[in-house]
Amino acid sequence: MMKLLEETCDRSKGICERIIAYVYSIVGSRKCVVVNGEEFLIGRRIAEGAFSYVYVTQSKRTGKHFALKRIITQTKEQRQGVNWEIQVHETFNHPNLLKLYGFVTERQNGGADVTSLLFPLCTRGSLESALQRKRPQKSGVFFTESESIRYLNQVCEGLKLFHNHSPAWAHMDIKPGNVLLDSRGKPVLMDFGSTSIARKTPKSRSEALHIQEWAAENCSMPYRAPELFEVKSQVKLTESVDIWSLGCFLYGGLFFSLKSHTHTRTHTQIQVRTRIWILPF
Ligand SMILES: Nc1ncnc2c1ncn2[C@@H]1O[C@H](COP(=O)(O)OP(=O)(O)O)[C@@H](O)[C@H]1O
Ligand SMILES: [Mg+2]
Repeated sequence: MMKLLEETCDRSKGICERIIAYVYSIVGSRKCVVVNGEEFLIGRRIAEGAFSYVYVTQSKRTGKHFALKRIITQTKEQRQGVNWEIQVHETFNHPNLLKLYGFVTERQNGGADVTSLLFPLCTRGSLESALQRKRPQKSGVFFTESESIRYLNQVCEGLKLFHNHSPAWAHMDIKPGNVLLDSRGKPVLMDFGSTSIARKTPKSRSEALHIQEWAAENCSMPYRAPELFEVKSQVKLTESVDIWSLGCFLYGGLFFSLKSHTHTRTHTQIQVRTRIWILPF
């Protein structure tokens, strides 16, 4: 019966989700997690990554909804990665940066850990999902110029804290999928797992290759700065890698359809391979 309700919920979210939360809270068989000494019911899955799942979750005490990112870790490196993501969240407090309310790590039977991060629920989802839902306007653009500038401006307000941090940090994965919209449509930058020390100069070929491989795994390709595709030793890398991503975010992600967004991706690759700077407008 629960499965049937969950499947129905996937289709017609809102009301069904509340009914399920209510039924589960009575039956008490639904999976819970305790964060900051408070119990939360784990509900509908919003998103799924390679090692993480994001769920809607509900406080048993207040009934209020939150987002819960559950990250599965098996190796020491993965655990350090999660701790780093938490540390970056805890460094900042800004309206355009996603706030971390709390976290908890649970050991599973197989030896893996699951760390649950509790965030405010941004009910309008990511800018990427907003783009997917949106129909282009008469002029062919998806967001109006003023909407796009407003999103960019507020993402910059949040990002400024990374770049002004001492030492300077770069977010390294700015893209519409990592910008959420809260219930009032305010953009909030999130997913701080790729954040790194911004200024570095690889001293050797192997150090340069190591950075290049790391970037290939952690910085989404259509938004990745050219200097990260082919990292040279002795080249100064700085927080300007984020500025490149912001340009792609504004141009490819906001002004154009997802089709044109793919088109931009091709251009980025062409630009990087041939070093010919083609601006597709
Ligand atoms: N607080 C939140 N509110 C609403 N949706 C969220 C929230 N956090 C994450 N999501 C959704 O989950 C997706 C993946 O989250 P993210 O932290 O970027 O995970 P990953 O590290 O796997 O990329 C986001 O693109 C967004 O759609
Ligand atoms: Mg992400």
